[in-house]
Amino acid sequence: MRYALITDDHVEKLYGIPFYNHLYSLGLDIQLFSFPAGESSKTRATKEKLEDALLSQGFSRDTTIIALGGGVVTDLAGFLASTFCRGVDLILIPTTVLAMVDAAIGGKTGVNTDLGKNMIGSFYSPQKLFILPEFLKTLPEKEWFNGGVEMLKAGLVGDGEFFQEFSNIPIEDAIERAIEIKRRIVALDPHEKGLRRVLNLGHTIGHALETLSDYTISHGQAVAAGIVLEARLSYEMGILKKEALEQIEGRFPPVTLSFDFKAVFDVIRKDKKSENGCPRFVLLQDIGVPLSCAGTYCQEVPLEILQRVLDETSLSTF
Ligand SMILES: NC(=O)c1ccc[n+]([C@@H]2O[C@H](COP(=O)([O-])OP(=O)(O)OC[C@H]3O[C@@H](n4cnc5c(N)ncnc54)[C@H](O)[C@@H]3O)[C@@H](O)[C@H]2O)c1
Repeated sequence: MRYALITDDHVEKLYGIPFYNHLYSLGLDIQLFSFPAGESSKTRATKEKLEDALLSQGFSRDTTIIALGGGVVTDLAGFLASTFCRGVDLILIPTTVLAMVDAAIGGKTGVNTDLGKNMIGSFYSPQKLFILPEFLKTLPEKEWFNGGVEMLKAGLVGDGEFFQEFSNIPIEDAIERAIEIKRRIVALDPHEKGLRRVLNLGHTIGHALETLSDYTISHGQAVAAGIVLEARLSYEMGILKKEALEQIEGRFPPVTLSFDFKAVFDVIRKDKKSENGCPRFVLLQDIGVPLSCAGTYCQEVPLEILQRVLDETSLSTF
């Protein structure tokens, strides 16, 4: 068996090189490959470069890919593993909170294109997954925030108690519980035909904000704002109680929307949950209880409600 350790150039310096040296000293036939850190590397071009590098080093069907890094690395190297020699073994070692609780769980892999995020990819599960919270000691604040938002989202759609207790739970336990929630949901709907859509809570509006800001707003900030706005839609639709909405609002930092309704609407109507150009949203009945909507877990919201929620937000800070 030959091992290809794939990481980004930031994680490479922190952990990749020592990890490679350690495995090499144990006698493993292993080589280290890296690419520039960041979302802009999650492309077909990076994948192709890595594939060419592997092939030119003689890697073939007896390869195990070890992906060490954040969600960009696990998504990209996971996708590569799924197509290299028609699929080789994969080991995931996520090193950000977000990758531990979200990107490395559930078997989705992929890359971005200029025409959309994560539009090319596969469902491919690793043979092994190692969650080692020790990696997090070097994680910057912003990345903690991104991961925290996804953990809170997991609670909102799958475990209300977890959402309520979140700040009092030690981080290792919080990571474990968030993983359990995602695993439970994915096991019931691996290919996102219904229930798995709940994991998109906050992402319909969040992705629009990220896109409109030209990615100057971080993913975590955008999704946090998206969660609050989509909870407001649930409230305006008469589905979520005021107290629950207030609790959700209280959990996330205040945001002022700097885009008008039309700009946001134009982006969200292209969301994958949209039908005939009408955006659909994951709505909440309560904290921890998404609206089933006959098993589709997404619902159209009347335009006037959507416009009111977005307009009100752009006028005031909440
Ligand atoms: N497949 C899925 O189901 C799924 C789910 C959620 C998100 N994602 C994807 O995950 C990606 C985002 O992942 P991310 O937030 O981990 O971003 P990332 O992989 O870009 O990592 C963020 C930054 O942190 C650095 N880093 C990683 N580990 C570190 C550590 N231990 N210490 C210090 N720095 C470290 C990285 O080098 C990078 O600069 C997106 O592309 C998103 O689409 C996928």
